[in-house]
Amino acid sequence: MEIFKNYSLKNYNSFGIDVKANYFVNIKTMSDLTKLTQSKLLEGKKYFILGAGSDVLFANDFNGVILNIELKGMHIRDYNDDELILEVYAGEQWHNFVETCVKNGYHGVENLAMIPGKVGAAPVQNIGAYGAEQCDVFWKLKAYNIESNAEIILNKQECKFGYRDSIFKNKLKDKVIITSVEYKLSRKEKFNFSYKELDKIIHRFPWVKPDLQYVFNTICRIRNSKLPNPEILKNAGSFFKNPTVSNYKFQELKKEFPDISGYELKNGNIKLSAAYLIEKAGWKGKRIGDTGVYDKHALILVNYGNASGKDILSLSDKIQDSIQNKFGVKLEKEVIVVE
Ligand code: EPU
Repeated sequence: MEIFKNYSLKNYNSFGIDVKANYFVNIKTMSDLTKLTQSKLLEGKKYFILGAGSDVLFANDFNGVILNIELKGMHIRDYNDDELILEVYAGEQWHNFVETCVKNGYHGVENLAMIPGKVGAAPVQNIGAYGAEQCDVFWKLKAYNIESNAEIILNKQECKFGYRDSIFKNKLKDKVIITSVEYKLSRKEKFNFSYKELDKIIHRFPWVKPDLQYVFNTICRIRNSKLPNPEILKNAGSFFKNPTVSNYKFQELKKEFPDISGYELKNGNIKLSAAYLIEKAGWKGKRIGDTGVYDKHALILVNYGNASGKDILSLSDKIQDSIQNKFGVKLEKEVIVVE
């Protein structure tokens, strides 16, 4: 187990925020986890479990222990002619896992290509894109309970997945370290084109029969055209969640903003596009100092250089207030703010 003191997190968060942590611990093997408990390093200190840092905003120096999960590996756990269960360790990059599936003809995660982050963070946020969520193919996961020093196994129901939500953001927040996740993938052709924009692009040439590689390439192309590469322009993907309103509220909004679109949920409520609201409120492409709203997608806040976590938080507060005032809609952050 490697422990560093007074360690810069600049290269460990996709916003590139330059804050320091009192302690930074690399967890590379399962025995590192046992050593961590034995060391009593966490006693009386706060800690934060870090994946790839692609969905966090560090608001201040972190007065505690950062646990950097570097557990690697992928194994087939079970299979039949139709399906297989792949166990993926928490420290693998999510996109590497998706690429491995595509190369081997396993269907189920291709719509989730190019989502930045590590596999261990995928169930926490229940990551999703283009009509798919990781919970669609989730089988079970293993985690290490920091308090009891024991392994626990959780199935899909126990993880309580919701839209960018799970038990790991609620009851089990900061209590367990996810060590590996098992996904049930299809060995037979099985696609999800429920997202209208994807369906349109995939079928734009009627003579092309889409295969797994084609779908994967298309998703990568769409993402590249809309979303900034954090290696070039520092960002954490969607900063806010898409908000949900009642159908009544949606009809009221429609009277004033006839071009507003909404997606009806099973319970009759309507999910709005946060990007639409932010763009309509005039924020798209706006820059304040070194922070701003990306000019090609209004849901992405960016750090142009030396913005601090507080600068980005202050911009996000302004946007939230403006959306509340203009539309009467509350925007919730998708990124996890670490104080
Ligand atoms: N739109 C605008 N202005 C913009 C961008 C989009 O008005 O600047 C409107 C358009 O009408 C567009 C609609 O918003 O049709 C939806 O846009 P998009 O397809 O880009 O999806 P999104 O709802 O903005 C969500 C996820 C993304 C995911 C995409 C694709 C959330 C918070 N975000 O964004 O996930 O890639 O769908 O499925 O649910 C992430 O979580 O970090 C993330 C990038």
